[in-house]
Amino acid sequence: MIRSVVRGFGAALPKRVMTNKEMETKVDTSDEWIVQRTGIHQRYIAGEGETTASLGESAARAALARADLTPDDLDLIIVATSTPDNTFPATAVNIQNRLGMRHGAAFDMQAVCSGFVYAVATADAYIRGGLAKRALVIGAETFSRILDWSDRTTCVLFGDGAGAIILEAQEGSGTNADRGVLTAQLRSDGIHGDKLYVDGGPSTTGTVGHLRMEGREVFKHAVGMITDVIEAAFKATGTTADDVDWLVPHQANRRIIDGSAKKLGIPLDKVVVTVDVHGNTSAASIPLALDTAAADGRIKKGDLVMLEAMGGGFTWGSVLIRW
Ligand code: ACO
Repeated sequence: MIRSVVRGFGAALPKRVMTNKEMETKVDTSDEWIVQRTGIHQRYIAGEGETTASLGESAARAALARADLTPDDLDLIIVATSTPDNTFPATAVNIQNRLGMRHGAAFDMQAVCSGFVYAVATADAYIRGGLAKRALVIGAETFSRILDWSDRTTCVLFGDGAGAIILEAQEGSGTNADRGVLTAQLRSDGIHGDKLYVDGGPSTTGTVGHLRMEGREVFKHAVGMITDVIEAAFKATGTTADDVDWLVPHQANRRIIDGSAKKLGIPLDKVVVTVDVHGNTSAASIPLALDTAAADGRIKKGDLVMLEAMGGGFTWGSVLIRW
C-alpha cells in the first residue's frame, strides 16, 4: 500500500516582530487583554519585498534542504493560502518558478485556516492515486495585508509566515505502524460564511477587502468542530487519544487549543503551542508549529502526530500522520 511519508519540513518568518506593546500604540488594546483572551504575545509582520510567495519559497527551500532533495525531485506543489500574491496566477506556480522547476504541476488551495490540512489531504490523495510521487505542501500567508488595522477585535490576532513539508510515496504495510498519512477527515459548512470572511473579492467588489469576524460565534463552534474531526480520525484508524504523541493544532487562540485538548483527553504537554510567538497565521500555522517542534527534537520519526484546524467557511479537518 502506498503511503505519503514526510520526508522534510521547513518554515520562514518575516524579519519584523510586532509585540503586543507595539499593538497598544496602534489600537485601543492592552498586552494584558490580548494575552488573557488569546495567549498571543507577538506576531511577525511582512515588510517590503516580503510576500506570500517569497515566504513560501524560503520555507520550501528549507524543507528541500532538510530532505536532501532538489526541485527536480518534486512533481507537485500545493500552496494553501487565502492571501495569494495575485488573484492569478496561483502562488504555487509563482513558487514553482522561483524554485526553477519547469515540470510537474502546481496549484493553490483555499480553505482559510484549514488550508494546510486540506492541502495535505489532497497531496496524499494524489500520491496514493499515483498522480504524484513527491509533493511539496506549503501553507503561506500575509494576513497583515487583509487586516483592518483600525479594528482592534481582529488586527491583534493575526500574523504572517510560511511552513512546508515534503510528502513522498513509500510502500507501507497498510497498518497504523506505517510511516506517513494514516487518515484525513475534511468538513465544511457554508452556512457559517458570514461569521468569518473578507468583505471584498474580484467578482464582487473588485477589491481585496478586509477580514471581518464575529469572534464569539467562531469561538462557539470551534471546539466542537475540532473534536468532531479528531474523533473521526480515531474511528477511521482504530486509535485513541492515548496513542497520540503530539497534537499540532491550528494556532488561533490558546483557549480554543486548551479546550479542545481537554475535551479529547490529550494532556497539554503533548500539545504543540506556537500561537504565543506567531499569532494566528491561518494556513501557515500548522506547518510553522510542525517545523518548531520537529526542529527542536520534540516530534521524532515514528511519532503519531494529529493535525487539526478550523477556520473561515467554516472549514475544518484533521490529519493523522506517523512522522
Ligand atoms: N483589546 C481590548 N478590548 C477588546 C479587544 C482588544 N483587542 N477586542 C475586543 N475588545 C473588547 C470588546 O469590545 C468587548 O468590550 P465590551 O464588553 O465593552 O463590548 C470586550 O473586549 C469583550 O469582547 P468579546 O468579543 O466578547 O471578547 P471575547 O472574550 O469573545 O474574546 C476573541 C474575543 C479573542 C476574538 C474571542 O472571541 C476568540 O478568540 N474567538 C475566536 C476567534 C478565532 O480564534 N478566530 C480564528 C479562528 S478561524 C481562523 O483562524 C481564521
